[in-house]
Order: sequence, then structure tokens, then C-alpha cells
Amino acid sequence: MINDIKEILISEEQIQAKVKELAAQISREYAGKDPVFIGVLKGVVIFFADMVRNVDIPCQIDFMSISSYSGTTTTGRTEIRKDVSVDIKDRHVIILEDIFDTGTSLTFTVNHLLNKQPASLKVCTFLDKPDRRRPGVTLKPDYVGYTIPNEFVVGYGLDFNEHYRNLPYVGILKPELYE
Ligand code: IMP
Ligand code: MG
Repeated sequence: MINDIKEILISEEQIQAKVKELAAQISREYAGKDPVFIGVLKGVVIFFADMVRNVDIPCQIDFMSISSYSGTTTTGRTEIRKDVSVDIKDRHVIILEDIFDTGTSLTFTVNHLLNKQPASLKVCTFLDKPDRRRPGVTLKPDYVGYTIPNEFVVGYGLDFNEHYRNLPYVGILKPELYE
């Protein structure tokens, strides 16, 4: 696997330091609010597990799964494969995401969860790739781990063709592997 990586962008040590920082900030800001962390499968699972283990206030967790189809038209269609099972009405919700790229998935997820009338809704993304944002996306993540350049990255939950999710760091994939 390591031979497929052009460069390690974020090391294991950097990841763990950032997770501790984000979890401490969220724990302070949500003390007494019993928040619900919602993860969007599958890319977020590693970040999610690291985050909630570093949050030291009472909280609940849940997951959803969405699928994006990009057909022959320019607008991709997003559908829910698995919805949340916790009732989030009047609850404080924090969505955890692996990466905020074009913004299509998170915009869809946020709108879907807002319909369930949570008391509040914030977004925490481990990675942000602002150069890739689709025009018209106005959503801004409330908590960002690392802002990264416009490169295709894998590891720490992120995949290429469902592989590399188990790498403990974030690396830039050699472009010859997907070009
Ligand atoms: P969106 O474009 O913001 O809707 O992001 C959709 C999904 O694309 C993310 O949740 C990731 O699963 C995936 N994705 C975006 N950029 C990358 C990348 O650099 N590596 C691996 N997956 C990515
Ligand atoms: Mg993916």
C-alpha cells in the first residue's frame, strides 16, 4: 500500500493531536447539552471512533448512509440508504464527516437532518478541500481539522475504489493509479 502513496500529507501524530484539539473544543462547547454525533458512512468511521473516544461529556452516536449517483446529467442525485435511528428533534446534533469536497453530500445531509427539527446542527469535518467547492454551495463547516490542497487523498477512512481506508495517515495517492 505504501508504494501507492506519493506523499504523506498528514501523519498519525498530527491526526491524533488535531482530534484531541477538536474533541476538547466540542466537549467545552457542548457541556450539559448531551449532543448526538452523526457520522456519514463509510469514510468517517475512523475519525468518528477517534473523536467520540476523546469527547468527555455525555453524548449519543448514530450513523447514516447516503449514495450519490452522477448520471448523464450534470446534477448528481443523492439518496438515503440508511437514515438515523435516534430521534433528533430538539437535540443538539453534530455531523462528523471525513472530507468536505464539492459540498454536495454534506449539503444534502444537513438539509435532510434540519427537516427533523434539531435544537441545533453543526458540522465537523476532518478535511476541507475548498478549491473543489461546487458553485452555489453556501454551507460552511463549523469545525475543520485540516484544510488541504486539491489533491486526491486516501487513508484514515478515505478510500480509492474502497481500498486504503485502513492506512493510519492521510496520503496523496500516486496520480498514475487513477489517471
Ligand atoms: P462531496 O464532493 O463534498 O460531496 O464529497 C463526497 C465524498 O467524496 C466524501 O464524503 C468522500 O467520501 C469522497 N471524497 C472527496 N474527496 C476525496 C478524496 O480526496 N479522497 C477520497 N475520497 C474523497
Ligand atoms: Mg468515499
